[in-house]
Parts: sequence; structure tokens; C-alpha cells
Amino acid sequence: MPAPRVRTASQDDSLPVLGSGRVADSGLGMGPALTDPSARRIRYLRVSVTDRCNYRCAYCMPAEGWAKKPREALLTLEEIGRFVELMASLGVTRVRLTGGEPLLRRGLVELVRRVSETPGIDEVVMTTNGHLLSRHAGALFQAGLTGLNVSLDTLDAERFSRMSRGGDLEVVKRGLTAAREAGFVNIKLNTVVVAGENDHELAELCRFAFDEGHLPRFIELMPIGQLDYGRPEQVVPTASMLERLMRAFGLEASTNLSGRVRGPARYHRVVSGPYLGAEIGLISPMTDDGFCASCNRARLTSTGGFRPCLGNDDEVSVLHSLRNHASAEHIVALVRRAVALKLPAHRMQTFATAPSTGMTALGG
Ligand code: 5AD
Ligand code: SF4
Repeated sequence: MPAPRVRTASQDDSLPVLGSGRVADSGLGMGPALTDPSARRIRYLRVSVTDRCNYRCAYCMPAEGWAKKPREALLTLEEIGRFVELMASLGVTRVRLTGGEPLLRRGLVELVRRVSETPGIDEVVMTTNGHLLSRHAGALFQAGLTGLNVSLDTLDAERFSRMSRGGDLEVVKRGLTAAREAGFVNIKLNTVVVAGENDHELAELCRFAFDEGHLPRFIELMPIGQLDYGRPEQVVPTASMLERLMRAFGLEASTNLSGRVRGPARYHRVVSGPYLGAEIGLISPMTDDGFCASCNRARLTSTGGFRPCLGNDDEVSVLHSLRNHASAEHIVALVRRAVALKLPAHRMQTFATAPSTGMTALGG
């Protein structure tokens, strides 16, 4: 790799400035930190390692799945590893591996190891449906994975199977137990709340999470992937989730969660009763006007599309540049071009500008 070009902040006047009036340096040699036109600094990369999944959640996938992509259309693990290194040199500190179902990707454990050993990356986490977790939890933990988000939409076995079109609740529960036994302490349970489907289960899902030592989080349904799902009447606003949870537990907003790099969730803390001190996360892409204001995320699709935002199809492809071993400067220039496209906020609330690609390609 050619020696990185050292550039001081003052040499590039075209870049947006941060609140301090100065352009921050990424600190790792690739010039100014990655900052979008709204002065948000990109620190968190989500990587979809495959868009295949062994489940078919109705809000995420069509019943027949997505058309299978030819192998050469997908980034190799080596290409993903190099891209993460470049992003780390621009100041990214946290990587989430997602899918599809990431555990379907052969070699994933080695990718976890490589990413976790990348200088500058201090958190490597994964989103999974948990189906294959009991088989891989130990190796993932050993490889340096620091946290897990496991999807859990319901505690009713039949509803679970229906919502995921064939998923098995007991298998996922065994996966969760295996993950805890392997040493994971940072396990979040993600529930996508769908009106009339699982919205009466919020308190029960919390109790399950608390009893098992996990952190429950509830996500507003988003209209992603043109699935005839995520219709306005199916969305449960977090305000109404919160009302129900207040009644069940008594909550106050909590501003700090053990000093971890915060994701998009807002947390509330139980203030009375047997679960005193436990926390609940609410993720409100549809109703929180501030949702995008603090966004520090960018995404890499399984086919090498670098996307500055979850909410539309804008992307710059880095596939061919990675495959052709383009210089670091070239790829960084593509990344900066994409980040310059990042809109101040997504517009999914209008149900008109949602992305056509499913969540599986986007890297939830
Ligand atoms: N709306 C909200 N969340 C979604 N996810 C997938 N599709 C949607 C959607 N349409 C979430 C899943 C999982 C992650 C991969 O993304 O619950 O946590
Ligand atoms: Fe698979 Fe997760 Fe999508 Fe469900 S939400 S189909 S488990 S990727």
C-alpha cells in the first residue's frame, strides 16, 4: 500500500467544519475525518456480509426471498476487510456485521477476527436472527466480537414462526443461552413492533430480556424494500409503546448507558419494582425528528455499495475499485463522494422515498 498522504486540516477548505470551527483530523493518516454536509462525523460502519437469510420476516423479505446474486457480485471477505481498514483510517471506530443472516456467510469468524484486530476499531458487533448462534457463539466471542443484537419479535412460538415465516423460537432461545455462556455480556434483543401482531407483548418481552440479562429494544416498523409491509397503519409510534411500557414498569429517560458509543436508540430506565434500574431501548426512525440529527452511520451493502443513509438508494459502488486493488486514496475519494450525498434526514415518513432494496442488503 502506498504511504498515506499526510494532509493537515487547513489544506482543504472545501470541507465542512465541526462545531469548534476546525476540521478534525481522523488521527490515522487519511486526511480530515469523515464528516457529512450536516457536520455529522461518520464513526460507525454497518456491513451486510450477505443478503441471504434462513428466515423470511415479512417486514424484511418477500416470501420467496430475494433473487440469488452471483458469487462474483458479492464482496469477498478480503475486500470487506480492506474496506474496514480504510474506514478505520478515516476515523470509524465501530463496525456492525449484519445481513441477511451473517452467520450464513462462510468465513465470518475469520472476518470478525480481522476486523477486531484492525487498528482504530474498538467495537465489532453483529446483528443476527440467532438461529445458528448456538453453533458459533464460542468462536465468535474468541474472535473478538464485542456484542450481539438478536432479533426477537415475539415470545409466542406460533407467532414467531409466522412472523419469520418458518423461524424456531426455541432454537433462538438456545442460541441466546449459548451466547451468554460463551461470555457475551452485551446482548440486545431487537423487536420490530407491528400493530395488531406483537404490540401487546412489549412488557413480556422486556421481562424475558431482564430475566436473561439482556437489553430489550423496540424498533418502529419502516417501509423498506417495497414489500407491501410497513404500511402507515402497521406502524406503532414509540410514544404509544412508551405509554404501555410506562404502565407496566414506571420509566424515566436515561441519558447514559455505561458510556458505550450510542447507537440510534433512546433509553429509558425502570424506576420501581423488581426490575429497578433495568433499561429499555426505543428506536424511532419514523416518529423521532431528531433520529437523523445524531446519525454517525454509513453502510456497505453485500454487493459493495457504500451508502451514506438507510433511507434511500443513494450509493457509490466500491466493488470494482476494491476488486482491482485501487489505491487507498482512490477508494477514500469514493467514500468522501458518497458521504457528501448524505441527506440531513431520511424521508421514509412520507412512505414515498423508502429504499427499494431490502434490509438484508442494507445492513440493518
Ligand atoms: N423495519 C424495522 N426494522 C427492520 N429490520 C428489518 N426490516 C425492518 C423494517 N422494515 C430490523 C430487524 C433486525 C435488523 C436486521 O433490522 O429487526 O433487527
Ligand atoms: Fe432474516 Fe433478519 Fe430479515 Fe428476518 S429481519 S428475514 S431474520 S435478515
